Amino acid sequence: MSDIAVTNASLELLRLATEARSKAHVPYSKFPVGVALRTRSGDVHVGTNIENASFPEGWCAETSAISAMIMASEGVDSRQIEELVVIAEHTPPITPCGGCRQRIKEFGSPDTIIHAADLDGIKQSYTLGVLLPAAFNL
Ligand code: THU
Repeated sequence: MSDIAVTNASLELLRLATEARSKAHVPYSKFPVGVALRTRSGDVHVGTNIENASFPEGWCAETSAISAMIMASEGVDSRQIEELVVIAEHTPPITPCGGCRQRIKEFGSPDTIIHAADLDGIKQSYTLGVLLPAAFNL
């Protein structure tokens, strides 16, 4: 059990991630994923996975949310991820894939909080530092 708190703000991210998941374009995997993230500036952005008939051209829910964040951003704090919820129907609850961990790292810190949720709610919470130790840096 982690000591990372699930706050009312986390539950609001859960609600928005659940809503985002309902917009997934997943005709191939049939595995909808939703993400909501909050920035240091307090802005919230959502994303879902968008697949393609040319399979490698699809992308993850985290990537969609980061894209939305960047396009709405005004200043450094508005592109710094503090907390993120990912939701899918899976046991154990999913965590961001390796590529998305690196994408979150680009706009986060080792303290960025990542909650893994299934349809019953948030089940596990991590820091990015735990999910992506010894991260690639340039
Ligand atoms: N997927 C995400 O959207 N986020 C993750 O963290 C893991 C995987 C998507 C990619 C693909 O559309 C589907 O889930 C099955 O891999």
